[in-house]
Amino acid sequence: MENKVKELCDAASSAINAVADLKALDDIRVKFLGKKSEITTLVKVMNELSAEEKPRVGKIINDARNQIKNLIDEKKAALKAQELQNKLASEKIDVTLSGRKIYRGHLHPLTLTLNRVKEIFISMGYSVEEGPEVETDYFNFEALTLPKDHPARDMQDSFYITEEILLRTQTSPVQARTMQKNSNNAPIRMIAPGRVYRRDDYDASHSPMFTQVEGLVVDEGITFADLKGTLDFFCKKIFGETAQIRLRPSFFPFTEPSTEVDVSCMMCHGSDEHCKVCHGSGWLEILGAGMVHPDVLSMSGYAPSKVSGFAFGMGIERIAMLTYGIDDLRYFFENDTRFLHQF
Ligand code: DAH
Repeated sequence: MENKVKELCDAASSAINAVADLKALDDIRVKFLGKKSEITTLVKVMNELSAEEKPRVGKIINDARNQIKNLIDEKKAALKAQELQNKLASEKIDVTLSGRKIYRGHLHPLTLTLNRVKEIFISMGYSVEEGPEVETDYFNFEALTLPKDHPARDMQDSFYITEEILLRTQTSPVQARTMQKNSNNAPIRMIAPGRVYRRDDYDASHSPMFTQVEGLVVDEGITFADLKGTLDFFCKKIFGETAQIRLRPSFFPFTEPSTEVDVSCMMCHGSDEHCKVCHGSGWLEILGAGMVHPDVLSMSGYAPSKVSGFAFGMGIERIAMLTYGIDDLRYFFENDTRFLHQF
């Protein structure tokens, strides 16, 4: 009997030692201490023993039981501690890792550029006017002295909706709209920003939709010198105080004389023949302008004998490309956040 008990204790002890998880440990408890275990069977056998044998054997069995129970309890505590340790290790948070960056929303680079342009002209007392993007042929062309068969219409391939309605190809119709809103040759000093549409291919320098800002000043005694001074001031504000402008003769049907305006290259200042921005010429074309044609004034109710004016039109994408050093127009429209986050 004693040997049997000792064997059981040893077997239990090595089984407990080898066990690796709580479930298996519980199986061992059932096996060695449960109702159907050998120890329980031994207790039953005890009834057959003599009265003097019983207490001694009983004590041996009880001790064995307690010993196994203690071993199991110890192991249980150890396994639980291990489990906690594993859990802590697997759920560990490395507080030294850099966090995920949360980007704040911000204005689109074209909006930023447009806001800057507006600010500059508002600081000179200009008002900001609006006109419809779906425009009549009359305002888009005719009121700007481009009758139906005028060859200069070919310069701006248009999206027509009906014969008389189109997506405006330029912001210049807002000139005529603003003059018609006013009367008695009232002075005008306005800009008109907005989207314009042309049947152009979509590539690095063309888009069927882009943004323009129109400018119009009408008053008594407005001269070409006012135009030049205004544009020079504007370019210095937007491109920096060292910027210079150059005026080249050009043609627009609604201005006479007409000019195209170049700004000095802000990248190389004309010193690098391989400059990616100006290609070595030192100059970048940025806008069209001129003195408002007398016919444009009179068609919209102004008297060319009393007042004169100048006008200009510029592309906002082009100005943004030059100020931010962007070489492909399409970035503005594709909303790739890797691009947009940079502003
Ligand atoms: N509307 C012209 C264009 O889109 C730009 C322009 C040129 C506007 C001369 C003007 C101007 O007001 O005077 O090409």
